[in-house]
Amino acid sequence: MFNASATPQPLPSTQNAVLIQEFGTPYVLRYQSGVSIPKLADEQVLIKVAYAGINPVDYKTRQGKGWGADIIREHTFEYDKGAILGFDVVGEVVSSNTRQFTIGDTVAALTFNGGCYAEYVTVDANLLAKVPYGVTSEEAGALPCIGQTAIQFMEFADIKKGEHVVMNAPAGGVGHLLIQLLMIKVAQDGIKLTVICSPGKYAKLDELIERNKLTSWIDYTKDTDFPDLQADLLLDLVGGDAGVRALSILRSGGRVKVLPTIWVDKLKQAGNYKGLSVDGYGVEQNGQDMARVLQQLADGEITLRIQKIYPLSEIVAAHRQLQKGHTFGKIVLKISA
Ligand SMILES: NC(=O)c1ccc[n+]([C@@H]2O[C@H](COP(=O)([O-])OP(=O)(O)OC[C@H]3O[C@@H](n4cnc5c(N)ncnc54)[C@H](OP(=O)(O)O)[C@@H]3O)[C@@H](O)[C@H]2O)c1
Repeated sequence: MFNASATPQPLPSTQNAVLIQEFGTPYVLRYQSGVSIPKLADEQVLIKVAYAGINPVDYKTRQGKGWGADIIREHTFEYDKGAILGFDVVGEVVSSNTRQFTIGDTVAALTFNGGCYAEYVTVDANLLAKVPYGVTSEEAGALPCIGQTAIQFMEFADIKKGEHVVMNAPAGGVGHLLIQLLMIKVAQDGIKLTVICSPGKYAKLDELIERNKLTSWIDYTKDTDFPDLQADLLLDLVGGDAGVRALSILRSGGRVKVLPTIWVDKLKQAGNYKGLSVDGYGVEQNGQDMARVLQQLADGEITLRIQKIYPLSEIVAAHRQLQKGHTFGKIVLKISA
């Protein structure tokens, strides 16, 4: 171990954490004491977790859906063990098996191994970035999944100068960062941007962008038929019937980029009649993008909104709130100060 530079803190032998022993409603999430501290492998650090963001993938996994649930089925439930959810983390390095990060560093990561609904988690060094001056721990805990997704999804969308882009859910976790990145393209590349959201969220956009620079707003709670805007590209953050409904906005041969990837096939089928090209995107975890988006936040290129911070012991309430699907910005767990 390279426990260099700072004085190692004495580590407890057990911790408080939230475990699931089965898939189901938010009530399968159990806050427990006496949980083992994870063991450090090569090229990993042990983090004392300060904050952990929660994401829709967390409740989908809890419900037994998707790749996260498949991993838990195979590697934990199969052996009668409980699983700890949570892919976003910020905290202090308390033990290190890598030369890149030392005890006392404040680091953030998106880690698909999960385990962040806990006081201590091990994370691969290549997923970590140091939190720069000017970014609070609350923000850094909220940022990993939504931040890396937003910057990677922008590149994946490959937006050309002058294109008319439509996005839904512009005030949610990913959306509230994505809309700020898109506004840079409005200013620099002359793209047009239309948003689809409720009146409440449309009003909130004032906190993020200059709303008068938007091309148009569609109120999905009221407008029965969406206008045929002959738009070039739909960035779909909602999927399902809401995604299908939005296809009428596009021109023939337009593009659709989908984040909730379970809906790609449905949208492909629905978009066939006008030759739409439909692709899904899955975020890649990596320390470089973590560092990049943290720096954008530190430099004020983007701002981040936190709707509510829950203590780890109130995990059930936090999941119930996120699952309603109407968050402004992000919901975060506070784990230790
Ligand atoms: N593929 C990947 O790697 C990846 C990565 C990150 C996220 N995702 C997925 O992307 C989706 C968005 O993630 P998120 O973190 O941004 O979720 P989120 O924070 O839960 O999104 C909430 C937002 O969705 C809006 N919304 C709900 N129904 C809508 C509708 N019918 N039309 C327009 N807006 C609607 C809400 O606004 P209103 O109040 O106006 O309804 C709310 O602001 C989730 O399905 C998530 O699993 C995928």
